[in-house]
Amino acid sequence: MEICWMSVVYSLAAIALSAIWIWKGKGPASKEHLPHYRGWLVFGNLFQVRRERPELTFSEWTKDLGPVFSVKLLHNQFIVLSSFEAIYEALVTKGNSFSGRPTKNVFRAKVISDHFSNIMRLQANQTRKKLRKICHKKIKIYDTGMKRIEAISMNMLQVLLKEFRGTNQTSFDPKNVIYNTVMNTMMTLLLGKTFTKDEELFDKVMEFEQGAIRALSNSGRDLIIKRLIIKRLVELRSQIWEMMTEEASRGDQLLKEGEEDVRLMSALRDALAEDGSGLTEKHLCSVITTDIVLAGTSTTSNSLYLFLNIISRHQEVQMKLQEEVDRIVGSGRTVSLTDREDMPYTQATLLELLRYSSLVPLTVPHESIENTVIQGKTVRAGSTVLMNLYHMHHDEDFWENPFEFQPERFLGDDGGLVSASHPNRRHLMPFGAGPRVCLGEVLAKSRLFLVIASLMQKFDIRPGEVSAPCDPRLLEHGLVLSSAPFQIIAKERLSN
Ligand code: HEM
Repeated sequence: MEICWMSVVYSLAAIALSAIWIWKGKGPASKEHLPHYRGWLVFGNLFQVRRERPELTFSEWTKDLGPVFSVKLLHNQFIVLSSFEAIYEALVTKGNSFSGRPTKNVFRAKVISDHFSNIMRLQANQTRKKLRKICHKKIKIYDTGMKRIEAISMNMLQVLLKEFRGTNQTSFDPKNVIYNTVMNTMMTLLLGKTFTKDEELFDKVMEFEQGAIRALSNSGRDLIIKRLIIKRLVELRSQIWEMMTEEASRGDQLLKEGEEDVRLMSALRDALAEDGSGLTEKHLCSVITTDIVLAGTSTTSNSLYLFLNIISRHQEVQMKLQEEVDRIVGSGRTVSLTDREDMPYTQATLLELLRYSSLVPLTVPHESIENTVIQGKTVRAGSTVLMNLYHMHHDEDFWENPFEFQPERFLGDDGGLVSASHPNRRHLMPFGAGPRVCLGEVLAKSRLFLVIASLMQKFDIRPGEVSAPCDPRLLEHGLVLSSAPFQIIAKERLSN
């Protein structure tokens, strides 16, 4: 009798478990259901995905599910695209159909962007177009072109070189030096001046940037702390706006007659004052804190930080970079953006850095604004779509030894940079592509070139006392991928 009861209990437990555990296997691939792994009822695939590096799990799944598949994490359904063909089709060929941004179940992004008021989170409408145009114009200043970027970056670069020199060949972690100088580039772009760490505005901007990174990171830990941080970010945002407005007015007094006002902050204020502009303070405040300060600092500073980690372990790459800068620039003058064309190895190293690191591995989530078809598979309007740039940049079916750092993959037999139509260049999209391409692509590439070439002109970079892996599979994921802390030794070169 006891055995009989036991078997009833076991049977009931088995029925209950099967009700919540749906078959873990490949789902049916029909037009309506994209390939997927079935997961738990309610939780979906939550326990099958590496929460801190989801792109690594998605990359694995591509082998089995193909380049277009769906994933369910709790109540959120995502479509993941992995191959070059699928990503190019979605971002470029059908770019307009995928130009939306999701607004459901993104509480943290909603608060930090002040209800989707920035360029990154606005839907593809006139306001976003206007804001993008103002920022682009001030970043590039079309006719004087690269000169503005060079002026902003060189300022920052001199500080960086001085700080490196000041370490007197002792082992040090370059993270803060890089971070402060990159942040100051963004402040120069906004306000036309640099700040020291102890100035209140700079301190608040840094607090906002670092708080937003922590609040938006993928880690599921410290949920309560994240809520508190988000509350603080809302306060900081309006304080930063007020202080920047005051700082801009002070700057107005210093402008000489006839002098061109190159500050982004002035251009944004002028646009706000225009009748019928459709812009509000909320938009400008959000653009400054998130599109410029947050997006512009974390990406570039993490790229440079990883570059130093990589270069300290790849002396052969370093020697080639130094040979090139010595030959083209020499030691008597500073590096200029006009040197780029004559420095293919440095450019190839930059492209390889962007491929290898794939700092924004899944892009910013897109939303399909109409029913459409990708690689023969139906994607419904309103789907959240993630482009797995990380997979595309490390796909073993396309790249030879994708986990090795080899600038040569972007050089032709004649030693020149391969053309933009070369398959290796086409398979490289670190800034996305199409209507939602990164706002700061030109600025980021130019800054990286100037810093890399100038550092190689002045220093030998050697490993320091603390090491961290630079293999892209082992990077940490905050808001963007980054290297764990490490140290280097910066030895000034004899020729300088
Ligand atoms: C190495 C440096 C950088 C990398 C790798 C990078 C990468 C990216 C990527 C992958 C996207 C998403 C594109 C998409 O949604 O498909 C993006 C968007 C964006 N980035 Fe960057 N970025 C960098 C630097 C910058 C800088 C310096 C700025 C600011 C000046 C910036 C501002 C933005 C903005 C505002 C967007 C949203 C564009 C939109 O939705 O229209 N980024 N970036």
